[in-house]
Amino acid sequence: MITIIGAGKVGGDAAMFCALRRLDSEILLLDIVEGLPQGEAMDINHMLAEQGIDTEVRGSNDYSDMEGSDIVVVVAGAGRKPGMTRMDLLKINAGIVKGVVEKVKEHAKDSMIIPVTNPLDPITYIAYKTSGFEKNRVFGMGGMLDLSRFRQFIHEATGYSRDSIRALVMGEHGENMLPLPRFSTVSGIPLLSLISAEKAAELVRDTKKVAAKVIELKGATVHAPGNSISAMVESIVRDKKQVIPVSAYLEGEYGHSGVTIGVPAVIGRKGVEKIVELDLDGAEKEAFDKGVASVRDAVSGV
Ligand code: NAI
Repeated sequence: MITIIGAGKVGGDAAMFCALRRLDSEILLLDIVEGLPQGEAMDINHMLAEQGIDTEVRGSNDYSDMEGSDIVVVVAGAGRKPGMTRMDLLKINAGIVKGVVEKVKEHAKDSMIIPVTNPLDPITYIAYKTSGFEKNRVFGMGGMLDLSRFRQFIHEATGYSRDSIRALVMGEHGENMLPLPRFSTVSGIPLLSLISAEKAAELVRDTKKVAAKVIELKGATVHAPGNSISAMVESIVRDKKQVIPVSAYLEGEYGHSGVTIGVPAVIGRKGVEKIVELDLDGAEKEAFDKGVASVRDAVSGV
């Protein structure tokens, strides 16, 4: 069973995408607001009836219903309002996520936890520490979404099909995000041989800023994060071993220990099966290290 805690905009959308991808026969939506997860589940099931998909989505306000879950997505908590950074959410969301993870320990102690609540990297650290689970079983979704945005900008800049674009974004899911043109290709052709360095720098800037733009225009980001969650869950349940940027707990990788931050990792049935270490150049390493410092600073205060 896949459990999604937080049946708001992103949680509801993630349940829908997980069902459409037929990732499990049962998906549970949990929320503290009475009626919300139940209504969301009904709405999705009505859609699935037309699609002819037999996944059952269930809504509940009772944490004990997650008993036996294989994967628990934590997307409970407040989102950014226009003008806020993700870090502005830390105080309110840290307490919510600690409480939720205590419930996961109680009712789904063998599960894998995917934190999504922002600020993603500090929240993943809190979830990991609170859970006491092995590090391969707690990893956050943020980089996968940043990557889908970067791919869209590459698509717009080159005109080539989205499907042919392989790219990478790592580092903090926040102000120090690190889109990597040097590690991006279109059907194997290096991106930097297709566009100028100036254009690539522009795509990097756009990728970092675009979530704030969506929030300014429609109040929240919903479909891209919902889908990214389902893509990560798919790599686990189908044991696809895709290389996906996830917020993972580092123990020496990239020269850091005791911190969670976005790194490319092989995601399969065991969760984070391997962290892939790239040879970052000076500027890339500097941006990555800035992200690490920002996450360390944030978690030191909670
Ligand atoms: P939302 O406000 O629509 O939904 C949040 C839900 O969490 C609400 O329904 C609320 O009742 C529920 N909730 C609060 N405390 C809870 C608890 N203790 N147990 C169960 N449910 C609880 O917010 P939205 O837009 O769905 O965003 C949720 C979070 O995801 C935010 O922190 C947002 O910043 C983050 N986010 C992260 C992304 C990422 O890439 N990592 C992308 C988009 C959003």
